[in-house]
Amino acid sequence: MSENAFRRVFFALWPDPAVAGKLFAAAERAHRRCGGRCTRRETLHLTLAFIGPVDPPSLDRLMKIGGSLAGWPVDALRLDRLGYWKHNRIVWAGAERAPEALAILVRELGAALGGAGFEIDRRPFVPHVTLIRKAACRQALPALEAIEWQPVSLVLTESLLDREGARYQTVAQWALSAQPSA
Ligand code: 2AM
Repeated sequence: MSENAFRRVFFALWPDPAVAGKLFAAAERAHRRCGGRCTRRETLHLTLAFIGPVDPPSLDRLMKIGGSLAGWPVDALRLDRLGYWKHNRIVWAGAERAPEALAILVRELGAALGGAGFEIDRRPFVPHVTLIRKAACRQALPALEAIEWQPVSLVLTESLLDREGARYQTVAQWALSAQPSA
């Protein structure tokens, strides 16, 4: 099979334009302190499960898994903190309190992926939106005024790497339902 038949994919949540705008503004503020390369507004996302390159039959299995989670209830995310991971030089926006229903969705997804033979990351899920790469933060990050985000769909996304970095393309998406936060 040719290399090109493989597609590099992951499951993610994509913010609506209003949430993306707030996240991007936060990225610009942090950028003044940390430098680096801001994620473009239209590529800001939250990864639920990274899969990697898959062949067409595996992509079919991923489509079935996504479909099996259609309508899954998720509560709103409250993104209320910025963080910096020194080891990979990423500045991110995250939640002080991870929403429970989202964590359950990620567990379900992980179980379905593991059951279908996909190798998955076993590290605990830390919901985060990468705002800046190649950052060097030597001073405290600015505070983040809480951003409320109700995810509306689970998106199987393809990552296409070109000279300008990553480009993302929706392979398929399934509506999620809103669950009121506890
Ligand atoms: P990151 O933003 O923390 O780097 C596409 O690459 C998305 O998948 C990114 O959001 C990235 O998270 C995430 N991801 C998780 N594990 C990955 C891996 N092993 N390789 C590349 N991306 C990964």
